[in-house]
Amino acid sequence: MRPKKNILITGGAGFIGSHVVRLFVNTYPEYHVFNLDSLTYAGNLENLKDIENKSNYSFLKADITDESLINSLFKTHQFEAVIHLAAESHVDRSITDPLAFVKTNVIGTMNLLNAFKNTWKDNYKNKLFYHISTDEVYGSLGDTGLFTETTSYDPNSPYSASKASSDHFVRAYGETYGIPYVISNCSNNYGPNQFPEKLIPLFINNIINKKSLPVYGDGNYTRDWLYVIDHAIAIDSVFHKGVLGETYNIGGFNEWKNIDLVTLLCDQMDVALDREKGTSKKLITYVKDRPGHDLRYAIDASKIKNELGWEPSVTFEQGLKKTISWYLNNTDWLQNVTSGVYQSYYENQYD
Ligand code: NAD
Ligand code: TYD
Repeated sequence: MRPKKNILITGGAGFIGSHVVRLFVNTYPEYHVFNLDSLTYAGNLENLKDIENKSNYSFLKADITDESLINSLFKTHQFEAVIHLAAESHVDRSITDPLAFVKTNVIGTMNLLNAFKNTWKDNYKNKLFYHISTDEVYGSLGDTGLFTETTSYDPNSPYSASKASSDHFVRAYGETYGIPYVISNCSNNYGPNQFPEKLIPLFINNIINKKSLPVYGDGNYTRDWLYVIDHAIAIDSVFHKGVLGETYNIGGFNEWKNIDLVTLLCDQMDVALDREKGTSKKLITYVKDRPGHDLRYAIDASKIKNELGWEPSVTFEQGLKKTISWYLNNTDWLQNVTSGVYQSYYENQYD
């Protein structure tokens, strides 16, 4: 029997990574999926309970900043393809501790690139390094316009600067050493298993607990939202059909001003919790703005739509309903991740 193709997915215990791991394990029995994750506060193996005993899945607890461990894992498992999601991912945390973002997002990516290069040494046929990135590398838009794949990089936060840097290194390794790579830059994700420090799950958790909803600045900042499972499907498309050396923007064709999104969320939460209409909206509190807050992100996803045939499968209203019902049905998960150190994070950030 032909040996299975070994695929390394980094950050697979996190929000997006867990959906990508599940999709690949369930869809491709001919692959062996290795999920490498250091299990930071954002990584949680509970996210993968349903597939953890599958024969084409293994978990590797490792930190991508540990160069010798990464080298030895490549030596042992000969990963033919890498889908690299492991990262520090929260803008507010990057403002408090930028160096942590350089270590994981830049040095960690370098370690993976070097290990991949040294393992295959120019024998790159049927190999792939797929780097998962964000639309935040493009900086901020004004009231009009969209990010395309040729928009210049102009990052404003330590998070986006570290992701931009890692994107540049991946591209540079392609140009300099001939590494076969693809990159995708996606807009804001939402859905099940997102850590409640990002806008939507934080506000769902606060509404459940009748805590205030801290809207930064005037609330007129705009983001383009995509349901996480649609992102995982897009990653599958780029992995299998993307052209080497290309970048693909992935977005939801779905722009919302924060305050409008929060209002919709409040209305849907009132219905889901059987509370009187208008109850949750009363929790909205305008707070001090985030420093360097990007005004607007919006993605032109026509390249991936036209060339790879991908587009979002759920509307925002449908996705938000599914998300709310997941959180309400998984209060144990929410309680587990918000116990302990989460409390001190919350106090530092908001009180
Ligand atoms: P997340 O914070 O939920 O998960 C990150 C995962 O990486 C966690 O499981 C964590 O334990 C792991 N990790 C962190 N540092 C590590 C290290 N040093 N070694 C090994 N593992 C480590 O992040 P997410 O929201 O799922 O984002 C995943 C990727 O997608 C990131 O690269 C992010 O930049 C990108 N992205 C995210 C969004 C979004 O809206 N969340 C949008 C576009 C792109
Ligand atoms: P976030 O989910 O942190 O994603 P990103 O900063 O990567 O876009 O934030 C989404 C938007 O919501 C962003 O404009 C900041 C805003 N926001 C708040 O107003 N209050 C909050 O408590 C948080 C976490 C975010």
